[in-house]
Amino acid sequence: MSFVTGLECHLCGKAYPAEALWVCSECLGPLRVTYDYAAMKGVVTRALIESRPHSLWRYRELLPVEEPKTGFYSGYTPLVKADRLAKALGVRELYIKDDSVNHPTFSYKDRVVSVAATKAIEFGCTVFGCASTGNLANSVSSHAARLGLDCMVFIPNDLEPSKVLGSAIYGPKVFAVAGNYDDVNRLCTQLADRYGWGFANINLRSYYAEGAKTMGFEVAEQLGWRFPDHVVSPVAGGTLLPRILRGFEEFIELGLVSGKLPKIHAAQPAGSSPVINALEAGLDFPEPVRPHTIAKSLAIGNPADGFQVIASLKRTGGSGVAATDPEILDAIELLAHTEGIFTEPAGGTTLAGTKKLIERGAIKRDESVVVVITGNGYKTADVMRDRVPESIQVGKGLKDFEAVMAGTPELAGR
Ligand SMILES: Cc1ncc(COP(=O)(O)O)c(C=O)c1O
Ligand SMILES: [Zn+2]
Repeated sequence: MSFVTGLECHLCGKAYPAEALWVCSECLGPLRVTYDYAAMKGVVTRALIESRPHSLWRYRELLPVEEPKTGFYSGYTPLVKADRLAKALGVRELYIKDDSVNHPTFSYKDRVVSVAATKAIEFGCTVFGCASTGNLANSVSSHAARLGLDCMVFIPNDLEPSKVLGSAIYGPKVFAVAGNYDDVNRLCTQLADRYGWGFANINLRSYYAEGAKTMGFEVAEQLGWRFPDHVVSPVAGGTLLPRILRGFEEFIELGLVSGKLPKIHAAQPAGSSPVINALEAGLDFPEPVRPHTIAKSLAIGNPADGFQVIASLKRTGGSGVAATDPEILDAIELLAHTEGIFTEPAGGTTLAGTKKLIERGAIKRDESVVVVITGNGYKTADVMRDRVPESIQVGKGLKDFEAVMAGTPELAGR
């Protein structure tokens, strides 16, 4: 049974039926899904959710589908209590929400695509696609393959080779566009309009975005049905961060969690930080920038949902923080060395941002924080090439090994 009541414009509030619509015909604002929370009360309980398998569909009444078609192993990723990292950063309680191990394509995008692909089938789309900085294309390609959907993904032509391969392996048509993400997005908007194909993050966006709420649901459930004091999220197009907050608010609305909303903070790479710039300039709508950063998955200069990120920070008392490329690489290394988790530059951005927020006092040392790690380092391993030592070459005999031991000062005393 679906509790969806329709769609509503984020900006002017005009109501629409729950169809394949994505912008308001009055004001061009984005549309969001609305639900009948009153009917859900007492039906959607902690016990019901806990009785279900460990995937994002355990919250299915709060997702806008008739019947899930894919993503049966997506979501419900580990919430890792990161004590060694907490100690290194000097904060009491720190958790990594680890979507670097999401199924099946190792990023947070498996959440949003599970919902978007299901909707593409419900709406009878002949082609399923996306405009992507890499991870979304990986996920769309994989989910399309298992559903047998015709798939076309569009990416900027300067992405990391293993991210490109990570789409191509599933057999979609991969289009490497001569331009940046914002150019790719513009082209795909025209294609969605002309051909009526289902683009996860364009004409299916109202539904796609709903999948990101599950990050918020899981954080609260995995903490034992409570909120942390702070959440730090990366921001590119701005889908994820406002939906983490929306997830928390829906849990309050349904009486599943009580207490104060966490402060939600936004992290962006310094080379692509339109939202952070807007916050500093006191603007409600970000001004586009031309991205240049090692964090290619976050290289979006004109974020579609940037204004919602700003509104979410203001509503919760959170802040914005930018991290330089060297700080991002340092943070990737710190996470790997303290917690054994290898993230890509998007995760490095979030962790570098968290470190700064603690240093600034925006996150106090006796508080709790959840750091949202959204992507996997094995996809972008090359960025760390100069950061890791060469392997120690050794012959196969015991004497060979002992000669190396004797000649290598760092190995002394073992
Ligand atoms: C790993 C990773 N993290 C975060 C994001 C940013 O997400 P959003 O567009 O929802 O702000 C993306 C994609 O854009 C991503 O690939
Ligand atoms: Zn409107």
